[in-house]
Amino acid sequence: MSKPLSLKTTNAEDICNDSENLAFSQVLDCHLSRRKLLQSGAVLGSVAMMPSLSFAKTAPTFERATSLGFTSVPFSTEDKVIVPKGYTARAFYKWGDPVGIVGNMPKFKFDASNSADEQAAQAGMHHDGMAFFPLPYGSNTATHGLLAMNHEYVDNGLLFKDGIENWNLTKVRKSQNAMGISVVEVKQENNEWSVVMPSSFARRITPHTPMLVTGPAAGNDLMKTAADPKGMVVLGTMQNCANGKTPWGTYLTCEENWSDIFVNPSNNLTALEKRYGIKSKEKSYLWSKEDERFNVEINPNEPNRFGWVVEIDPFNPTSTPRKHTMLGRIKHEGAEMVITPNGQVAVYMGDDQRFEYIYKFVSKNRYKEGDRVANMRLLEEGTLYVAKFNEDGSGEWLPLVFGQNGLTPENGFADQGEVLVKTRMAGDVLGATKMDRPEWISADPFESGSLYCTLTNNSERGKEGKPGTDAANPRNNNRFGHIIRWKEKNGDGTELSFKWDIFVLAGNPDSPKEEHRGNIMGDIFGSPDGLAFDYRGVLWIQTDVSSSRLNEKEYAGMGNNQMVATIPGTGEYRRFLTAPNGSEVTGIAFTPDNKTLFINIQHPGEPKDGDSEPLNPTAVSSWPDGHSRPRAATVVITKDDGGVIGS
Ligand code: FEO
Ligand code: CA
Ligand code: CA
Repeated sequence: MSKPLSLKTTNAEDICNDSENLAFSQVLDCHLSRRKLLQSGAVLGSVAMMPSLSFAKTAPTFERATSLGFTSVPFSTEDKVIVPKGYTARAFYKWGDPVGIVGNMPKFKFDASNSADEQAAQAGMHHDGMAFFPLPYGSNTATHGLLAMNHEYVDNGLLFKDGIENWNLTKVRKSQNAMGISVVEVKQENNEWSVVMPSSFARRITPHTPMLVTGPAAGNDLMKTAADPKGMVVLGTMQNCANGKTPWGTYLTCEENWSDIFVNPSNNLTALEKRYGIKSKEKSYLWSKEDERFNVEINPNEPNRFGWVVEIDPFNPTSTPRKHTMLGRIKHEGAEMVITPNGQVAVYMGDDQRFEYIYKFVSKNRYKEGDRVANMRLLEEGTLYVAKFNEDGSGEWLPLVFGQNGLTPENGFADQGEVLVKTRMAGDVLGATKMDRPEWISADPFESGSLYCTLTNNSERGKEGKPGTDAANPRNNNRFGHIIRWKEKNGDGTELSFKWDIFVLAGNPDSPKEEHRGNIMGDIFGSPDGLAFDYRGVLWIQTDVSSSRLNEKEYAGMGNNQMVATIPGTGEYRRFLTAPNGSEVTGIAFTPDNKTLFINIQHPGEPKDGDSEPLNPTAVSSWPDGHSRPRAATVVITKDDGGVIGS
């Protein structure tokens, strides 16, 4: 058993010297960070504050909100963020802003001429999931903390002055460095939030950052490559969509559309490659043309090393992220963690593609207050389940365990590692319920074991050759999506049965088609994606209507993407925010006093089809600068009277 870190430990170098107390993953951290330092010739000068042993369990106690206290905003097609009267929204940490690494803070060049190396020290593109971690570690500070956030994907038409012309490895490197994760230190002073620069916590994680593989698929033959014959260390993470946060102060980032990057030009796709949507060509990212790691014909197992949930310690900038195979390999949307009544942890996860499944991981071991090292291994051992929603409103969690329920060698599963690499295929064998694109999941903070999940849309439901409706996905041609919720038996995440219902059917009551009308009372929306309860039990819903349909077709008259609030039980929906042109609203992070809300605006200016036009980058949007190419950014929202958001 590894012991907790010494309280006296104050920086990353001390951790490595404290060999007596090192856990295995930390030994690797030290090995990798030393090697990196040797390679770069850098000196470990950046000193991060080391976490104390305990992480504050909860924010200050709030009563459950019973009403929404803001005036809703109308639909908008304006190229800006609009919030209710009495609130202020301000963009910061825009794509290309320096993350704040000591001695390496390149400024954004508005003509997109920053180099690949500069991009690796700047905010990535397409901000997505995000979490706030108060500083110092373990406190409930509401004016100072770390924001960890995902940069989901890139638009090569905006990233380069000349787009994909003259494509080469240097361009691929810049494109790669614009994906991944940022950790930024943020502080509120004189009522204004800004990024602290430089900061010893500042960090970018990219598709080149070494990561340790944990759990049953670590070292599995399917995880081995020529560059990593042991199948234990993967370079990087990418297509990081939504997120999770643990009670021990780590960030969970989720790899979603990773299959879009890989190409198998042989056209000889395996069943596994097909099940996860790998294609024989792609025209957007183009990494595989210059970087053979992403050419599946040359590196057939490299795709198996993506599609996981990755745990990152934002408080230690030299820590090695860990890919937890126990949480399954899917197109992960988010990872919502709850501590169950007996102290195990349950993590709820959606696989965002049409007709894919909802999953739950339950840890073997229990959370131990104050033992961060032990807690950081909770996601390495346990059981993964897939959800079946029965027609009568009951549901079951079906275990994805090797040797059980047909997950056997005869059906193509040699061991537990293979079950996890082939998570989707294991779900198929078990007969899980095919959902309408599961996106975010959020746990009601006032009702134990009560979870809500956005099912963003599924235009293929009911089409010829595709599944038709079922009780949990009740509309064919589901263009507007819905939110489903379930209550675990006894409110306990370790239980294997639940009761479910449809919380709301999104839509537009004026639609000529019955299946598009929905049942929203109040401000209407469609394609719900981001979803999170705040500390007061207000449920915030963010939309991601695709750029090809924004304000058109079924969505005509509904303007840009938006964020609405509701309180379960009230049936009321109010629009809180409308987004700039061509963007989606995502990322929800509240400070512990519920007085600051951080959200992300992703892909402002995205055209209806394909990447942006490099010669006319402002064709759709010039948000947030107003004079130049659009830039994804974090938006900080506060109430002008200093009050609680939503009150
Ligand atoms: Fe990246 Fe499913 O949204
Ligand atoms: Ca999403
Ligand atoms: Ca989405």
